[in-house]
Amino acid sequence: MDRRDVVQTVIDRRRGRTYLEIGVKKGKLFLQVIARKKIAVDPVLKISRKRKMKSWLRSPFNLFNEYYEMTSDEFFARARQRLERLGGVDVVFIDGLHTHEQSWKDVLNSLRYLSPGGVILMHDCSPGSAAQATPAASREEATERQAVPRAGCWSGDVWKTIVKLRVERDDLRVGVLDCDHGIGVILRGEPERRLSLPGAGVEALGYDDLAANRRELLNLLEPERLGSWLSASPPR
Ligand SMILES: C[S@@+](CC[C@H](N)C(=O)[O-])C[C@H]1O[C@@H](n2cnc3c(N)ncnc32)[C@H](O)[C@@H]1O
Repeated sequence: MDRRDVVQTVIDRRRGRTYLEIGVKKGKLFLQVIARKKIAVDPVLKISRKRKMKSWLRSPFNLFNEYYEMTSDEFFARARQRLERLGGVDVVFIDGLHTHEQSWKDVLNSLRYLSPGGVILMHDCSPGSAAQATPAASREEATERQAVPRAGCWSGDVWKTIVKLRVERDDLRVGVLDCDHGIGVILRGEPERRLSLPGAGVEALGYDDLAANRRELLNLLEPERLGSWLSASPPR
């Protein structure tokens, strides 16, 4: 299963109408997802006109896509009325700046506009190496440190946001599908298992802790469990 399969499965199972993607780049995922209303947010959108036109043939819903060329913080600050008029967002895919701090903000902001049965998905929650998990303020900085090969994957420390949610939030069901660099799934509802962290807490964790306790820290799920996971927390 890759991120496209996961996003589309969630939209179809929840009968989602509105899809928001934070961090869109060339629209590789965004343009393939089929949903009635799609919103793209990225400070540097790289979707060519040709790609957009091709996407109209794939799904006519793509004609009505909304593109916001700005950071997710700016978007959430400006788009309140638009999101409220849409009646909230059913599925959010967070894949913007890969830092713990920004992904945490993106989750909290998304929760503000999430429809009652909505689902937040977050990419890059289970990096496979210390290099991929390099904490940095940007991909450029991670590359400069030469920890991440130029064309390699950079997931940063987004994984810490999953751990923090599992420690701090008793109103959210949080797990990570073990596919495509780890796809976080965040739903309203009772947690499957709360996580308690002895010692200095989330901020003090490093990649070695993740590698040694991945399953426990992330609540790592086999991708095949996605369906049953969604059913266990039905829309209210
Ligand atoms: C990994 S790419 C997204 C890939 C895309 N989701 C896909 O699956 O095809 C990350 C994107 O996040 C964008 N980004 C960086 N900082 C951001 C921010 N503060 N808010 C929103 N997007 C951001 C970058 O410009 C980049 O295009």
